[in-house]
Amino acid sequence: MAEDELGKTLPFEAEQYIPFSLDEVNLDFQILGPCEDKENKMNVMLVAAKKAMINDYVSVLQNAGLKAVIIDIDVFALENMFTANYSPEENTTVALVDMGASVTNINLIKNGVSQFTRDIFMGGNHITEEIQKQLSINYEDAEALKCGEQITGINQDLLQDIIERASSTITSEIQRSLDFYISSAYGEISQVYLSGGGSKTRGFKEIFAKRVNAPLEYINPFHAITYDETMFDAEYIKDISPFSAIGVGLALRSMGD
Ligand SMILES: Nc1ncnc2c1ncn2[C@@H]1O[C@H](COP(=O)(O)OP(=O)(O)OP(=O)(O)O)[C@@H](O)[C@H]1O
Ligand SMILES: [Mg+2]
Repeated sequence: MAEDELGKTLPFEAEQYIPFSLDEVNLDFQILGPCEDKENKMNVMLVAAKKAMINDYVSVLQNAGLKAVIIDIDVFALENMFTANYSPEENTTVALVDMGASVTNINLIKNGVSQFTRDIFMGGNHITEEIQKQLSINYEDAEALKCGEQITGINQDLLQDIIERASSTITSEIQRSLDFYISSAYGEISQVYLSGGGSKTRGFKEIFAKRVNAPLEYINPFHAITYDETMFDAEYIKDISPFSAIGVGLALRSMGD
């Protein structure tokens, strides 16, 4: 089926995959290529987003005096950022894991095509909440402790223990998704790239690295992006790198691309 023809028939096909009325969602699609195992069939990536959610974001932008021209989702922005910066070997699967405040986005990519995506509704906030609960302190103090600030009277060993246990809960959840992919006969993961503010939590990377059966490193969203070093301090860029993965991916989009 040609792309324009698919555009017309897709809403009807899509109905069975979307748990909402079609009037409530915006739909878009991309043809990924022919099916390897079925003749005359093709793989299509279908994306649906609830209009109510999109409108919320658009109105935030409007209130800030901005106009949205492109809307994308985290996992795809992550993928665009990766593609712009890295060239993985053919036939290897790379896992992108971005741990934010309340969501962790996962995208597994092989030969430039996304194979599996998942959003886990857990992130850095979970660690803060555990610190708050177990040390009986307020949220702001818990957040400050998580980010490495010192507060007098806090038992550092206990704090580290809470952070490690909360991090383990999150990494187990991530690992479950990676295991699902591996066991679904898609094969091994050759590299894991980590990003998101939550991944800056002390010891998180090490805990994750112990669990995951592949080399793990922080992604550099500015790896192939040149910038004026007289305007941006290299240390600052390094510091904001974990937060910037999805933002860089969004910024790479342009009208009509
Ligand atoms: N130095 C630090 N150590 C630990 N955690 C940190 C640090 N700096 C920021 N964070 C955490 O990073 C998280 C925010 O990261 P990020 O900006 O990637 O999230 P977000 O994209 O806004 O959230 P979400 O993806 O859930 O919508 C917060 O949970 C914050 O506490
Ligand atoms: Mg995020």
